Amino acid sequence: MSEQPAPQAFDLVIFGGTGDLAMRKLVPAVYNIFKNGGMPGDSRLIAVARTELDLDAFHALLDSDAQKHVHPDLFDPETWATFLTRVDFVRIDLMDCDSYSALGERLNARPDNSRLYYLSTGPRLFGAICNNLRANGLINADSRVAVEKPLGHDRESANEINDLIADAFEESQIFRIDHYLGKEPVQNLIALRFGNSLFEPLWRRGRIRDVQITVAEELGIGRRGDFYDRTGALRDMVQNHLLQLLCIIAMEPPLSVDGDSIRDEKLKVLRSLRPMTPERVANNTVRGQYVSGSVGEEEAPGYLEENGVDSDSHTETFVAIKTSIDNWRWAGVPFYLRTGKRMQTKVSEIVITFDSLPHSIFPDQVAKNAVNRLVIQLQPVESIKLHILSKKPGDALALKPVMLDLDLSQSYNANYINAYQRLLVDLVAGKQALFMRRDEQDAAWAWIDPIINTWRTHGVAPKPYRVGSWGPAASGGLLGRRGLSWHEETL
Ligand code: BG6
Repeated sequence: MSEQPAPQAFDLVIFGGTGDLAMRKLVPAVYNIFKNGGMPGDSRLIAVARTELDLDAFHALLDSDAQKHVHPDLFDPETWATFLTRVDFVRIDLMDCDSYSALGERLNARPDNSRLYYLSTGPRLFGAICNNLRANGLINADSRVAVEKPLGHDRESANEINDLIADAFEESQIFRIDHYLGKEPVQNLIALRFGNSLFEPLWRRGRIRDVQITVAEELGIGRRGDFYDRTGALRDMVQNHLLQLLCIIAMEPPLSVDGDSIRDEKLKVLRSLRPMTPERVANNTVRGQYVSGSVGEEEAPGYLEENGVDSDSHTETFVAIKTSIDNWRWAGVPFYLRTGKRMQTKVSEIVITFDSLPHSIFPDQVAKNAVNRLVIQLQPVESIKLHILSKKPGDALALKPVMLDLDLSQSYNANYINAYQRLLVDLVAGKQALFMRRDEQDAAWAWIDPIINTWRTHGVAPKPYRVGSWGPAASGGLLGRRGLSWHEETL
């Protein structure tokens, strides 16, 4: 039997180490990895930030702001205390090349550890950070860099940032994060499609009637008003998360699960998306913006009343799009995407509806109208369900809809692994399959840019929708033309 190579010790350096993402997601994920024995040898987490803190004060910050995001079943005070002995803090002015020497001293003290840089800062700093790391000799063949979205605000700016990163790192060292690809049901969808022969013959035009992808959030924009107002739902969610989900549904079987095979297939899907001409943008997209309303018992302010938002802002907090994939498998099958803040409930799901029966032999209406659906829910519950019809017990030839639950949600929950944890493990292992390649990202922007430009040049204002609703009525109209509606029955 061949022996597994010993896992290599690493230094994971998080830029933006005191930020929201670090506290809520990254540090808790690294703690879980540590607890599972995934920080071999003298591996460290080194947080980097501009904030004036010493190590004790940083540990105190982790105690107050990060620890509460560790799942209670996984938290153990002793393990947490040992974990903190692996956590260092370095204060750096990110724009100042000289100040990186402090980081250099820490890293050079353990020259054999691989260096993993996680850039969790605004993208305008990515170029300077990469350049300063390079100028300080802190990048070697073993180094990798992970970058958070959004990478730019359009195709051109994304290209500029990618060029700056590419000046310091090879493409094989760059890990562009889309945390939706780290979600269990998304990975399970790959297993479902390509690990079973059952679905493949059905996975195409003539068998599938339509595909819907919904990512609805109950929360508003929180404290990110300034960022969000410059960004909007199309760039924040569709350009990355929703298009990535669409790619996983629509891609051809990859040659293998290695880094480039999956990404090659996703790229083909992005390039097959029907281009958005101004006319298609007018007919097939809906922009929305929430206005005050109630969520449960509570009144919530409208978008224009949020902190950091321009009082006459035209930024969309909701977007719905109908698109098509122009290739042999999908020609003629509509794909509907929608996402929004302050919607009725938090739910992310992919709904694949199969064609209706050519002819029903059953007399009742339930049977006549029924369709089979595969519903892959990412949130709030991770599940994969197949809606089918079955006979009502005892009742002669009367049918009722039932659900085959294909998922193991209880065992998922038992693992408490979040998307970031999975992606960080892949970053440590150097596996790129679930990270976006540059050409993929470019293709996604190439499809998104005309939508942004048409909205801008044609002055398309977002339609108001009430907090706690499902978005502007016009979003239903996108499907209504074909006699369809959004799948909301289990929401
Ligand atoms: C982020 C967006 O990428 O995804 C946020 O910037 C959004 O605006 C978040 O809230 C949603 O992620 P999740 O995992 O909670 O669905």
